[in-house]
Amino acid sequence: MGYPAEPYRIKTVEAIRRPDVSRRRELLEEASYNTFLLPQEAVFVDLVHFRGLHAMSDRQWAGMLRGDEAYAGSRNFYHILEQVERIFGKSWAVPVHRGRGALNLLAHGYLSGETPLVAGPLTELERFHLTRFGAALTSVPWDISPDGKVHIHRDAIKLPEKGVLYWRMVSEAAAFLPSDLDDLRFLLTRAREDGLKTVLNVSSALLAYGPDVLRDVFDLADILIFNAREDGLVHTGGLVMGNAEEDYLTFRTFVVVFEGLHTYGGLAGRDMEALARGLAEAAEGHAFRHHQAVLRTLRDRLREAGLPLSPHQGVWGVSLSPRELVPVLNPDTAVFTLLAGLYLLSGVRAGRLGKELWLALPLRRYTADHLDYVVLALEALRDHVPLLPDLELLNVPRRGFETEEARLVPTRPFLPRLEEEVLDLGNIPPYRIKHVEIAVQKSRERREEAIREAGYNTFLLKSEDVYIDLLTDSGTSAQSAEQWRALIGTPESWNYARAFDLFREAVEEVFGMPYVVPTHQGRAAEHILSQTLIRPGQFVINNMYFTTTREHQERAGGVFVDLIRPEAHDPTNPHPFKGDLDLDAVKRFIEEKGPENIAYICLEMNVNMAGGQPVSLAATRKLAEIARSYDIPLIFDATRSAENAYFIQQREPGQEGRPVREILRELMSYADGLTFSAKKDVLVNIGGFAALRDERLYRRMLRFMRYFEGESANGGLAARDLVAMAVGMREMVEDQYIRSRVEQTRRLGQALLDAGVPIVVPVGGHAVYLDAKRFLPHLEQKVFPAQRLAAEIYVESGVRTMERGTVSAGRDPETGDHRYPKLELVRVTLPRRVYTASHMDVVVEGILGVWERRESIPGLRMVYEPPTLRFFTARFESL
Ligand code: F0G
Repeated sequence: MGYPAEPYRIKTVEAIRRPDVSRRRELLEEASYNTFLLPQEAVFVDLVHFRGLHAMSDRQWAGMLRGDEAYAGSRNFYHILEQVERIFGKSWAVPVHRGRGALNLLAHGYLSGETPLVAGPLTELERFHLTRFGAALTSVPWDISPDGKVHIHRDAIKLPEKGVLYWRMVSEAAAFLPSDLDDLRFLLTRAREDGLKTVLNVSSALLAYGPDVLRDVFDLADILIFNAREDGLVHTGGLVMGNAEEDYLTFRTFVVVFEGLHTYGGLAGRDMEALARGLAEAAEGHAFRHHQAVLRTLRDRLREAGLPLSPHQGVWGVSLSPRELVPVLNPDTAVFTLLAGLYLLSGVRAGRLGKELWLALPLRRYTADHLDYVVLALEALRDHVPLLPDLELLNVPRRGFETEEARLVPTRPFLPRLEEEVLDLGNIPPYRIKHVEIAVQKSRERREEAIREAGYNTFLLKSEDVYIDLLTDSGTSAQSAEQWRALIGTPESWNYARAFDLFREAVEEVFGMPYVVPTHQGRAAEHILSQTLIRPGQFVINNMYFTTTREHQERAGGVFVDLIRPEAHDPTNPHPFKGDLDLDAVKRFIEEKGPENIAYICLEMNVNMAGGQPVSLAATRKLAEIARSYDIPLIFDATRSAENAYFIQQREPGQEGRPVREILRELMSYADGLTFSAKKDVLVNIGGFAALRDERLYRRMLRFMRYFEGESANGGLAARDLVAMAVGMREMVEDQYIRSRVEQTRRLGQALLDAGVPIVVPVGGHAVYLDAKRFLPHLEQKVFPAQRLAAEIYVESGVRTMERGTVSAGRDPETGDHRYPKLELVRVTLPRRVYTASHMDVVVEGILGVWERRESIPGLRMVYEPPTLRFFTARFESL
């Protein structure tokens, strides 16, 4: 069983890097062997804690921009009140900057002097606040029972005459285990009857119990305290809530002293809005159900690996027992020793909960690939445990502050023989999630209805009905935090001249071309280039076609010629470079027509319509010689050239181990110019360009560009888009990224192949192409098998794909008949950095679900057909 699929997509990513092992050793020494003191950027997978470290959702992020920063009466505050009423059933709320802000107000309002205080498990921080004015603390006896809950010894409860009862429902001091609700009801009822003020800390309760079952418990408490950095899904903030007017007045008195006004409580308006929206998501519950299911799977994996899980497992992470891992180490510092060992071995940082080693999982931050790596890292740790020396404390940290204060030193050299990495990074994505877009699967019933409404055309589905959108990889990437910084945060994002400089420098660095014409997307560059280079009647030699490329060549009066090597037309031929041109055919064609009649040769990288098939360095080098010998320009459609360079690294003799960045530079050195849709490899949502070696050609293109696109320094794009492209160009050639990208596609294809599903081989860079002719052999092309297959995949799983067969091929302009292409395909296209390995499991399952019932799937009848590019809007009915 894999990890459960996420109820969201990735919207923004944040780069993570693993410093090499010698650097990790230095960093450990600098941090005095206390991994809690490592700088965050030195950590690869960081499971040190969860609080305030979650990824926010698109709704929350949008809410940040709706921040009403008024000092008094901000609308965001009222949005919080609405959620508080709905979820907690309390009529007033006072915001605070953090959970501890609430504890401070509580202490000032109710625990001055020698007030009797009754409490359950307490952390050092809680104890400090609750008892600092001299409250007389007695404990309610509790223990952790085998069901993993905190139980109250009901018989042993002794309550004072009056005073305060404080209970944290999911206490950190009890390893984030939930309290038994019946016990809690009993305790709260008793306390109320005895006239105590009942204070319930409800932080993490929505996560632990789900939001639906708790109302009656909340009703038994006079005051609720909520740390929003836990299950409020935010980075900062907290709440105090209640119903009684006099309590409200008490908190209002102190909130203005310590936090801010009672309507903002030390929070920016934007943070209040993020909290209001986080609470709404908490009430929906899908983020929490997913989190719990991930933890169950992670525990299973660790158990299977034979790692010693602690008997009690709280709601935020996984606890491991250090005593069982390493009985020989000094128990006072054993956890520090293990954490240091783990970091040195893998770059993973774990946390500590009490005396346990803790893998704390922030919400929506890491994916199955990261967690698989963590399991491997822990196995490596276990294997190295006999070699670990004790760490000795150099100071005496305060109780409860060990992680911040401990300074340690090893008693003998720390894993001195560890000079090489013990763990390969595999295909692990070199990023974690910064922010997500909520996306949940609609019911099968709704999906059936939606596809009928869409006339069995996936282009006509509403995106909100789609769970996993594999329609295209164009403009659908998750941008990085660095790109977002460029989009909104730098002076260059507003300065056209400076933005263009940055963009031009990046093009020169990555592609080695000195001149660049920015355009709003790829087809605009194709338009301008075709108009500049083609004289009517001239031939343009291509390796297969792409729709827009061919369209612009023909509109400029060119005659399109396809001379791709013949293997490209055979979906079962495993040739590694099916994108190459047939060089002999090219030479023959030039000789036959005369070089003066060839406008240029257009070489597409990772040929889209052939299934994402790459060109090789060797053939491209020869092609360049041929082109030069006839003085014919060689132009690349370099749209997916970074992915192509990765294939060269993997498949071409002599190229293995060479950085993708270098291979790409060599590949580009053979071109006279290129067009590029930056919406693909460059990881932006909009943008394109043409890059050129020759200044004269550049000047000619600029003339056209001004008519159609914009000024020479922006091509019709906003300045910020140029900077985002500059950043994306450098990200796309990072080896670990491009590896994780292309291997995700390969793994998807391999899983389908293993199950016997017919696909185009080899698997391409950006998409897996299903062969509908072999998938639905009982359907003739005239009943549109690929169209039907795409529709069925949607119904089965909420996954959207695209037809690339008879519908896309259109009609023959002379006969008016359907064109029946050789390849009747469904394209399953992977956006970059958006979907996880767990999403891919859903895709595979969905396609296999259709595969199993393939024989009963009928064809389609077209009931509406537009005059051009019919695949976008045609409608069908089931036969
Ligand atoms: N060249 C290739 C190889 C493409 O795949 C595309 C677009 C373009 C040029 C045109 O670039 O869209 O930026 O104007 N392909 C998208 C796709 C539409 O879904 O494959 P654009």
